[in-house]
Amino acid sequence: MEDVQAYIESNKENFKAELFELLRIPSISTSSAHRQEVRKAANFLFEQLESLNLDQVTLFETDGNPIVYGELTTNPSKPTVLVYGHYDVQPPDPEALWETPPFEPTVRNGDIYARGASDDKGQSFTHLKALESYIRSGTDFPVNIKFIYEGEEEIGSPHLVPFIEEHRELLACDMVLISDTAMFAEDTPSITYGLRGLTYMEVEVTGPNRDLHSGVYGGAVENPAIALSNMIAQLIDEEGRIAIPGFYDNVKPLTDKEREAYKKLPFDEKEYKEELGLKALDGEKGYSTLERASARPTLDVNGLWSGYQGEGAKTVLPSKAAAKISMRLVPDQDPKKIARLFNDHIKSIAPETVTVEVTEHHGGHPSITDLSFYGLKAAAKAFEEVYAKEPLFTREGGSIPIVADFQRVLGAQSILMGFGLNSDAIHSPNEKFALKDFYRGIQTSAKFFEVLPEYG
Ligand code: BES
Ligand code: ZN
Repeated sequence: MEDVQAYIESNKENFKAELFELLRIPSISTSSAHRQEVRKAANFLFEQLESLNLDQVTLFETDGNPIVYGELTTNPSKPTVLVYGHYDVQPPDPEALWETPPFEPTVRNGDIYARGASDDKGQSFTHLKALESYIRSGTDFPVNIKFIYEGEEEIGSPHLVPFIEEHRELLACDMVLISDTAMFAEDTPSITYGLRGLTYMEVEVTGPNRDLHSGVYGGAVENPAIALSNMIAQLIDEEGRIAIPGFYDNVKPLTDKEREAYKKLPFDEKEYKEELGLKALDGEKGYSTLERASARPTLDVNGLWSGYQGEGAKTVLPSKAAAKISMRLVPDQDPKKIARLFNDHIKSIAPETVTVEVTEHHGGHPSITDLSFYGLKAAAKAFEEVYAKEPLFTREGGSIPIVADFQRVLGAQSILMGFGLNSDAIHSPNEKFALKDFYRGIQTSAKFFEVLPEYG
């Protein structure tokens, strides 16, 4: 094993240079203008897998962005790990707030700044480089491995879900390994065992058939912006609970054991507030901040618009108002059922003066990994060896919907081995990933493959 870790040590500069090459590709999946760039990132990974001489290296075409696959079977009696990652990124907007350009990776104070550095190019690249370190150092790879990279995670994985349903045998595995989450804090390795699901709705409220003069019509005609604001305000009650009938029906309550574990996490609420520039926090009564942000369902307005947005004051009673509203879900809530409940409820509370149109965007199921799963124990051991610290077991508020699909379709549990930090600013300007965690990620991944056979 010395050879593998020694190989990693002496190849850090190469790994960084290759990651930078990938980070320079603006593979923005939400933007149709970037289709070719997205494909370039897929090709880059395809070539990486090919250069390692893996088997069945394929760039699968879909109606959307390609899925990249490759595998290495060493011994069928050993566990098979399916590594999942996504090569697509969020748009860099607002671009003016980046200190260095989003697609020109730059190291400052030990951090790599670039869109996708943490989410998820940098993190998912660690496993590829770990495998490379085995192969190139001439060390037998201890388990069987399969790689699957998609280019549509940030838009809800519309083509990956049917793909895994159609390729159950190809993807058959004992576990899925994913690095697309965060550590609890700096130098505090953590294994995420729970992710929230998502239902994302758009509501459009229409009043009069055109924008009106607010002096001539104001007072006689309902203002759709006010109607929508009232409707949104009714979605959360005084206790901070979501006031949609049936919303909590399938919510699994937190166990006493889990709540005890939450209390033990090294969390400083004052620091948390300060970092966000807040005077006070908010949320559902009866739950701690960490519980509310990861293990309880929530509702948020992600976008809200109506009327005049330009410079100065234009007197207008707008014809339309609209909002993008997301709900983060926990086991065992069903995103489709929540979408139905939301749709029925929002229409039921609309005044008769307006018409309401509701559309559903992508969503996904929440997931939980069984804490007794042997793969988690091997991952914990690997973290301990590299970070010289036992990892924490945490739940996170973000969503990786494919995790639930891997569970449902392949019967495989996921190991969420995050090397990022919540302060990495994923989806925000100046996204970063600590260079040392990129390297420790490669080391941890290599260690994980080494120790896994002892556990399973
Ligand atoms: N890497 C994130 C998910 C994440 C972030 C998990 C932080 C845990 C902590 C992922 O790329 C992402 O942003 N997912 C979307 C999912 C959506 C587009 C279906 C999300 O959570 O909003
Ligand atoms: Zn991601």
